[in-house]
Amino acid sequence: MSQTRLSAATLKDFTTRLLQSAGLSAAEAACLAGNLVLANLRGVDSHGLMRLRTYATRVKCGVVKPGVAPRVVREAPAFLAIDGGNGNGMWIGRQVMELCIGRAKETGACFATVNNGNHFGIAASFTEMAAAEGMIGLAMSNAGATMVPTGGRKPILGANPLSIAIPSGKYRPLVLDMATSTVAQGKIILAAKEGKKTIPSDWAVDPEGNPTTDPELALKGAMLPFGGAKGYGLALIIDILVAGLSGALTSAHTRNFWKDFEHPQNLGFFLGAWNIASIMPLPEFERRMETILGEMKACPPAPGHTEVFYPGEIEHRREAENLRGGIALGPAVIEDLTKLGGEYGVAFPS
Ligand SMILES: NC(=O)c1ccc[n+]([C@@H]2O[C@H](COP(=O)([O-])OP(=O)(O)OC[C@H]3O[C@@H](n4cnc5c(N)ncnc54)[C@H](O)[C@@H]3O)[C@@H](O)[C@H]2O)c1
Repeated sequence: MSQTRLSAATLKDFTTRLLQSAGLSAAEAACLAGNLVLANLRGVDSHGLMRLRTYATRVKCGVVKPGVAPRVVREAPAFLAIDGGNGNGMWIGRQVMELCIGRAKETGACFATVNNGNHFGIAASFTEMAAAEGMIGLAMSNAGATMVPTGGRKPILGANPLSIAIPSGKYRPLVLDMATSTVAQGKIILAAKEGKKTIPSDWAVDPEGNPTTDPELALKGAMLPFGGAKGYGLALIIDILVAGLSGALTSAHTRNFWKDFEHPQNLGFFLGAWNIASIMPLPEFERRMETILGEMKACPPAPGHTEVFYPGEIEHRREAENLRGGIALGPAVIEDLTKLGGEYGVAFPS
């Protein structure tokens, strides 16, 4: 399939201008654009520019509010309860993470719940802010109900993502960033958009609850949790931390990101940071991380594998490659972005 390569800077500029045209401030638009382009740079295309149309539409029709700042509604030294005011999820999430990092410098750790949230994209973009400050970052969100609980046939849980980032000395930070479904649903949407006929059988079930390899049937059915009941349990706990504890809607009740342009999503987030220096000197911890990750890297590869990676390594490597060679976009995404540019008066770069 033919692909077009464009530089991250070009795509970020186009995306920022388009989101400003939709109604976001320059800073909000740049923040959202940064998160989307980062996803494409890392090969997480399910959370990249294929979603731009929906983000722009949600702003334009008023269910995502521009110019909103996070509002602290309750606090303790190491805990903040925040109202996200239906602002853009990336914008609110970054500011909340900055608050947590600032507090963790004083208290050793700080965590925040956020209600009235909107889709915040790739969770790593928040946890890596903490890692860059010598802290361990945590980010979770719930998402629309697309996933069945183990043994169920109705989607009542989201693919609730979890990210943890850890500074790792000479290595780039360890970044676990994962959906609690086997894969993010965006991968099936993208497969269908790109005309692919099959997906692996452990990704999703059809509307009757049977495993399916057909992307169209999978989109009518539901996602499966990763690792059976363990993924189900983790997704449920995330829903409880982000929504049960914040007052946001649980996955079963949040509004559909793709289809509902009348109501705010009211998702919940749980974000935070542990300040390593309050537990042990940061250089000592980083040396320990170098030893731990060095042991992973030294593990002899199994047949069919060339090396062992640590979490986040593959994405960081792709990011470096795509920063050099440009981001490859498929024809369906290019067509959509070109049309979208026309609708918002911002020409898509050719
Ligand atoms: N905002 C939302 O509502 C939402 C919902 C779901 C997912 N997401 C995002 O979607 C993205 C993709 O999630 P996913 O679960 O499909 O990702 P994935 O399955 O590609 O990767 C999950 C994790 O496993 C690691 N990994 C993968 N292969 C590896 C290997 N061979 N060795 C070592 N580590 C390896 C990755 O580095 C990553 O940390 C994430 O950025 C997530 O935040 C967001």
